[in-house]
Amino acid sequence: MKESELIALALQAREKAYTPYSHFKVGAALLTKSGNVYTGCNIENAAYTPSNCAERTAFFKAVSEGEREFAAIAIVGGAENAAELDYCAPCGVCRQVMMEFCDYDNFQVILAANEDEYRVYTLREILPVGFGPKNLQA
Ligand code: THU
Repeated sequence: MKESELIALALQAREKAYTPYSHFKVGAALLTKSGNVYTGCNIENAAYTPSNCAERTAFFKAVSEGEREFAAIAIVGGAENAAELDYCAPCGVCRQVMMEFCDYDNFQVILAANEDEYRVYTLREILPVGFGPKNLQA
């Protein structure tokens, strides 16, 4: 799948964001190695801490459907009234969730402003010196 197609799905997912508190809307589209896509949006809560980021929504949807192998994620985000989007980097918690399931040097994190403007990072680049499942192996 082309980066622009994955970004388009993330932009669609962003429209579903539930953000009555921050008014900052994020969408994500997670591509599995087998070619399936799971989308996610951020979902906020009046108690604040139960809020969930778009990226984790996508991962938890996918893992709960039996997916464990991921190739890439496209992320778009910005204020709800923004005329155009800037790059939206995933929070530390979402990076750690990526660390659980994704290949350190091959998983692609696509930060997009739109379908034509994007930057691609590996998980290692955005979470250097990470702690993951391999650290717990004997
Ligand atoms: N948020 C995400 O969903 N993903 C990110 O990459 C950054 C932050 C959400 C959390 C919260 O609902 C809002 O954006 C403002 O932090």
